[in-house]
Amino acid sequence: MLAILAVLILLLCSSPSIVVLSSLNADGVALLSFKQSVKDDPAGALSSWNYSDETPCSWNGITCKDQRVISVSIPKKKLSGAVSSSLGSLSELRHVNLRSNNFSGNLPSELFKAQRLQSLVLYGNSLSGTLPFEVGNLKYLQTLDLSLNFFDGSLPPSLIQCKRLRNLVLHHNNFSGSLPDGFGKNMALLEKLDVSYNEFGGSIPGDLGNLANLQGTVDLSHNMFNGSIPASLGNLPENVYIDLTYNKLTGPIPQNGALANRGPTAFIGNPGLCGPPLKNLCSSGSEASPPFSFPYLPNSYPHQDVVGGGGLSKAAVIAIVVGDLVGVCVIGLLFAYCYSRICSCGRRRDDYEYGFKKGGRVRKECLCFTKDELETPSENTEQYDLVPLDEEVGFDLDELLKA
Ligand SMILES: *[C@@H]1O[C@H](CO)[C@@H](O)[C@H](O)[C@H]1NC(C)=O
Ligand SMILES: *[C@@H]1O[C@H](CO)[C@@H](O)[C@H](O)[C@H]1NC(C)=O
Ligand SMILES: *[C@@H]1O[C@H](CO)[C@@H](O)[C@H](O)[C@H]1NC(C)=O
Ligand SMILES: *[C@@H]1O[C@H](CO)[C@@H](O)[C@H](O)[C@H]1NC(C)=O
Repeated sequence: MLAILAVLILLLCSSPSIVVLSSLNADGVALLSFKQSVKDDPAGALSSWNYSDETPCSWNGITCKDQRVISVSIPKKKLSGAVSSSLGSLSELRHVNLRSNNFSGNLPSELFKAQRLQSLVLYGNSLSGTLPFEVGNLKYLQTLDLSLNFFDGSLPPSLIQCKRLRNLVLHHNNFSGSLPDGFGKNMALLEKLDVSYNEFGGSIPGDLGNLANLQGTVDLSHNMFNGSIPASLGNLPENVYIDLTYNKLTGPIPQNGALANRGPTAFIGNPGLCGPPLKNLCSSGSEASPPFSFPYLPNSYPHQDVVGGGGLSKAAVIAIVVGDLVGVCVIGLLFAYCYSRICSCGRRRDDYEYGFKKGGRVRKECLCFTKDELETPSENTEQYDLVPLDEEVGFDLDELLKA
């Protein structure tokens, strides 16, 4: 009897300390487990995280709603060590921001048990390994930023189950393989896409052009994407800038919608690309080559009829070609006229060594000139051939009319 009483008293006396030790709620315990896997905390960012509180809601970097942790945000604190899987047991967690620290190791698949996660921002750490398949569990995920880490391997096909994803930012990693099948079809809400500076390969998915909510720069640059540029990319919103530089793309550049009126700089670093706005023309054998190459329109050029997505109509193309031909003949006749009339005027740089010859030679040259013109964009004639003529020849109206 006495012994039982003594035990009871002992229990009662020690109970306050038991209450203190067990008072921290489950979310808090999970966060302390996260803290344990942090190897170094030079800025003392986690010093307020301890057992003496009932909830972690007052801790640095923690936000709660109804006593449950909904956000863990500890950016730029030079934290190192592993990202603990215990974050995955925070069942109400919506936001994780650990950017610009020095976390290393793999992303534990248990992390993706936090099914309400809306944003996972880990950019600027030293994380490695693959993106776990379980990322597909995150039905509410809107932002996934893993940029500036050492991740590798392919993106898991399950990623396309994150149907609410708006921001996918993966630049400066070592990801490889192709973008998952159905990428463009399933991620309809995607607004920002940056996969630059990786080793992604294969062809650019044609359905990427379906992503009507994309904004700003769609950055696929500095990868190993190969094959031709799908014309459907032109269906992206008009104000989207598609950066395809430094890949292994080949073939002609489609000239429609968002792809039209881009300067050559949007495509550099792809030796296999051809056609406008690049200087190198597509070889006549290349299958998808357009029948006529359009002159390069600078960025400042008003969009007009090219904008509609369908390109120029057949009639317009014929009109342009006929117009070109007529123009070239007039120029050629003018040239021939000047050549025969004024001794010094007709000498173009490449003719100079031959001096000037008689009319027959000139007429022949006129024909060659016209034939060349059919195959070169009119830009070349205007810029490189007409200008010296204009500078050297000062003909008056009378001569012009006679010609
Ligand atoms: C626990 O955190 C509080 C601040 O939230 C701090 O005052 C206290 O010293 C900490 N206790 C320990 C043991 O670190
Ligand atoms: C990051 O951590 C690694 C060890 O994991 C260390 O070698 C490196 O110096 C750290 N970098 C910074 C910027 O603290
Ligand atoms: C990417 O992987 C290659 C080997 O596959 C390796 O040589 C390179 O250093 C890696 N780059 C980064 C940034 O991890
Ligand atoms: C693209 O590269 C992959 C290998 O990475 C290769 O299997 C495929 O045939 C290439 N496609 C084209 C069109 O070159």
